[in-house]
Amino acid sequence: MPLDHQRFLDSLHHLRSFGASGVGKGVVRPAFSAADIDARAWLADQLRACGLTVHVDPAGSVFGLAEGKSLLLGSHTDSQPEGGWLDGALGVMAALEIAKARFEDGLAPVSVVSFQDEEGRFGVTTGSSLWSGTLDLVSADTLTDQSGVAFAEARALMEGKSAEFVDPARFSGFIEMHIEQGPVMDGTADVVGVVSDIVGIRDMKITFEGQQNHAGTTPMALRRDAFQALSGFNTLLNERLRNVVTPQTVWTIGHVSLHPNASSIVPSKVTFSMQWRDGDADRLARMEAVIRETANEIAQIHEMKLSYGPLLGLEPVAMDKHLRTALQESADEHAQDRWRTMPSGALHDATNVSALIPAAMLFVPSINGISHAFEEDTDESDLVTGLDVLAGAVAHLV
Ligand code: GLV
Ligand code: MN
Ligand code: MN
Repeated sequence: MPLDHQRFLDSLHHLRSFGASGVGKGVVRPAFSAADIDARAWLADQLRACGLTVHVDPAGSVFGLAEGKSLLLGSHTDSQPEGGWLDGALGVMAALEIAKARFEDGLAPVSVVSFQDEEGRFGVTTGSSLWSGTLDLVSADTLTDQSGVAFAEARALMEGKSAEFVDPARFSGFIEMHIEQGPVMDGTADVVGVVSDIVGIRDMKITFEGQQNHAGTTPMALRRDAFQALSGFNTLLNERLRNVVTPQTVWTIGHVSLHPNASSIVPSKVTFSMQWRDGDADRLARMEAVIRETANEIAQIHEMKLSYGPLLGLEPVAMDKHLRTALQESADEHAQDRWRTMPSGALHDATNVSALIPAAMLFVPSINGISHAFEEDTDESDLVTGLDVLAGAVAHLV
C-alpha cells in the first residue's frame, strides 16, 4: 500500500491549525469549541474525498463509513483545555492516511472515526460512551462542563448531525493508534507499544459548603472555611490511600472551584474534581469507599455540608487477542526489535468500543513522557513508524 508519509505529517500539522495555541505545538480545541467544529467539518471533507460516506452521530462523533463490513480506525480530534497536537489527532490522521492510500490503490476500504469529547469536557469519553451504550443521551444531555454549559446546549452547536448512532455490526474491529502519554518508552530503543490492556477510571465532583464570612473579623475557631476543608481532605486522603494503592495507582484533584474566590473572604464553598485510576476494578471500589469516608469525616470536623456529583467511570479492559497479534506481526516487520507490549495508563475510546466489537491499540513514544500539555510531542520518524505498523496490521486483517 503506497502510504504517503509526508502527506500524513502534513495532515497532522494542518489539523493543528484548528486551535493552534501556546508554546511548542500546543492546541486548544475542546469538544464543540469553534475550532473543534471547524476541524470536524474539514475532516468530513477529507473522508468524502476518499470515497467514504460521512455520518455525524447525535454526540457529534464523525464517521467516514466504507460500504459493507469494514475495519474501523481512528481516535478523537477534540483536545484538553490546554493540549498537544497529537493526543487523539494522531490516531485520526493515521486512519485518514490509510483510508486515502487504500482508496487510491483500489484496496478494500477502511472506515474512520473521530469520537467526540474523548477529553471529557462533559463526561468521560462522552462520544464513545454514548455509542457503546454505557451512557444514554438523556443523561448525557444533563452533564455540564466546568462553566455550567450543558452537553445538550453544546452539541446543538454542531450542524448536520444524524438522529441515529452507527450500527456497530458494520465493523469487524477497531484499532486506535495513540501517543503513549507517559515516560515508559521515552529514552529506550522502543518506538512502538502494542497495548495489552487499558486501566479503569472513576471521576466525580465533590462539594464542601460552609459559611462565607469576613477574613479579618472571623476568629479562626469560628470559621467554616471550605478551602481549609479541601486542604484537610487532600492530606488525610493521601495518608489513607497508602494502604490501598499500588505504585501504578493514580489519583488527581485537577479542577477546583472556590467561592467566592476573593482574598478578604472566608470561602463558603468548594467544588472539586476527584479522579482515580487503576487496572483493578476492586481497587477502584475500595478507593471510592476511602474517598467517601474521608470526605464525610472532614465534613464533620469542619462543619461542612457535603454533596457529590454523579460517579462517572470506565472499567479496565483487555485488548482483543486477534487484533493484537496482527499489530505484533506488523511491529515485527516495521519496528523489528524496537517494540514492546505494554498497558495503557491513559484512558481511550477503545475501552468503550471494546464493549461493541474487538478493539486494540498501538502507541508511539512521548518525548519526556509529557502529554495533556502544550509541550506534548513525538519524533516525526516515530509517528511514521507507528503509521507503518498500523497500515501493516490493516493489510494482515482485511
Ligand atoms: C484521556 O485523555 C485521559 O484522561 O486519559
Ligand atoms: Mn487521547
Ligand atoms: Mn487526552
